[in-house]
Order: sequence, then structure tokens, then C-alpha cells
Amino acid sequence: MKTASLARSVGCAAISFSILFGVSLPASAAGEVNIYSYRQPELIKPLLDKFTEETGIKTNVLFLNKGLVARIKAEGENSPADLIFTVDIGRLSGAKSEGVTQAVKSDEITGNIPAQYRDPEGHWFGLTTRGRVIYASKDRVKQDSITYEELADPKWKGKICSRSGQHVYNVALFASIVAHAGEQKAEAWLRGVKENLARKPAGNDRAQAKAIFAGECDIGIGNTYYVGLMKTNEKKPEQKEWAKAIKVLFPNAGDRGTHVNISGMALAKSAPNKDNALKLMEFLSSGKAQEIYAEKVFEYPIKPGSEPSDIVKSFGKIKPDTLSLDKIAKSRKAASQLVDKVGYNNGPGS
Ligand SMILES: [Fe+2]
Repeated sequence: MKTASLARSVGCAAISFSILFGVSLPASAAGEVNIYSYRQPELIKPLLDKFTEETGIKTNVLFLNKGLVARIKAEGENSPADLIFTVDIGRLSGAKSEGVTQAVKSDEITGNIPAQYRDPEGHWFGLTTRGRVIYASKDRVKQDSITYEELADPKWKGKICSRSGQHVYNVALFASIVAHAGEQKAEAWLRGVKENLARKPAGNDRAQAKAIFAGECDIGIGNTYYVGLMKTNEKKPEQKEWAKAIKVLFPNAGDRGTHVNISGMALAKSAPNKDNALKLMEFLSSGKAQEIYAEKVFEYPIKPGSEPSDIVKSFGKIKPDTLSLDKIAKSRKAASQLVDKVGYNNGPGS
């Protein structure tokens, strides 16, 4: 009886919110795990198929490209969401601070995911990492190592390309500098980087590789997986040329390591199918599942001992910065304020 009424209320919520938000969850039965995802369904399908094959538990994916947290908030207690799938510490910690997640205690999950990649209170867990690296022109940049600090060196004047300083990927990178060096030094550094920009920050990470290919700048800041995506892009083969024009430099390989961010998961606050959602979270935390996922998205599996894809290995070895993502999350606000303070998005000379 309870299950039937729950299913009805979940159904009602799904219908009313599909009117409000334009998309709805596929019809779901009690016990099926409902995933609200910022990641494209085809990226996570192989993983979810494997889970269903092993456990008999079905999953439904609602793909959203914005407003995931707002939607769960609006759905309230009747939200059909069990699991949240997203990328970037900004979005994961944001889901927690907005109150749409709940704590998970599982020895299996904490055994699989090192502490630096999960919330100390169990609200979010990383599954894969991505390095925020330097894309350097193969033709014009002779050096094969670099540090983030060096990006402020006047030798790079007019040679650096970057996307918006307020994009979550850059805010997290800048937050890691704040956490390591303190706000004052981070501010001076960011001012230096801004003065070295070749143009006003624009475009996404791939656009920085394109700009290097076009000769507009010599180095750009970008995530590792885009290099894999560009190298294998059959639909837009011009991106293979952009990838060919660059080499990946892992910053700070000789000292603290390269800043990494995570893709991850969180249990939704009102998860109607909590037991099965926990089973899925435990499955996803396993090395085997992380490898399937990492292969598909060109990221690094988090569980120690698991391996990335051959394409990712071809970039070279990554030494991840050991600073915890929780500490980075706590420095995000200061980093975002610095971006405005130094006028990063206004470009050089501003
Ligand atoms: Fe991305």
C-alpha cells in the first residue's frame, strides 16, 4: 500500500515537473534507481547496464544540462531523485550546501575512494578525476614541464589563452592556489596571469586548443579529457587537428602535483529507493566500474591501482595534487572574488 501510494506521488511529481521543466524521468517503478545526471546518458549507460546485469536492479536516467539542484529543491519531499551524478567540486559541494543531498556511511565506498576525493561528512564522492593541465603548442613551446606559478611570468606575455575565470573549472584551479599560497599571493599570481593573456577569456576548453592551433596563443589551460575527446572526434574531425597541435604539460609535476577535479555522485536527500541507490553507489565505487567509466570519458579512475584508458596514458603520467577537494571547495568563494577583483575576464591591460 505504502509503495503504491509512493509510486503514485512520484508519478504525480514527475508529471507536474515535466510541465514546469520540459523534461521528465522515464516512467519508473518502485525499487528502480532514479538518477539525475549532468553527464550525458551514453557516457554512463555501459556502467548502469553492467550494474543491472549483476544485480537485476533497473535504473532510470534524467539528463539535465542545467538546473539540477533547483529541480530537486522544487520537487521537495516527493522528488523521485535517488542519485545525483555531476562533475566538478563546485557542483557537488553546491548540491550539499543547497540541502539536496544526504550523508552516506559505507565502509565499502570509503575503502574504495581515498579521503581527499570525498566529503568528510559523506555527502559526495568522487568517481573519476580530471587534471587541469596546460595545453602547449608543439611547435612553439620548447619546454616539457611547467608550473602554475610560472603562468604569471612575464615571459608568457601575450601568449596565454583561457576560458572565463568564473567557469567552475577555473574557479577550482584558482581555489587550489588560494588554499596553497594564501589569498594575497594568489591575487598577485592571478593578476600576473591576466596580464599574460593573449585576449579576453573566451570559449570553452577545446576553444583554447583551437586558438593554439590557429596561432593565437602558445599555451592554454584545459582539462585532460578534452584532449581524448578531440583526438577521437569523428563527427568533427577538425578537432583532431587542434589536438595534434598541442602537447599536454602536467603542471607542478616536480613538486606538489597537478590540480585535479572530480566527477562524482551524491545520494539525494529524499531518495525514495535508498537501499538500491546505495547498492549502485557501492558498485560505482569499485575499481572495475571506475575503469569502465573512465575509459568512456577519458578520465582517471580514483580507486588506487585502477588504470586509465590507453589514450589518457599517452598524455604521460599524472601526479595529482593531494590537497583535498573539500579544502578546494572551501576556497572557491575567495577565488571567485579574486577573479572579479583583478578583472581577469576583462583581459590584459584592463
Ligand atoms: Fe567538461
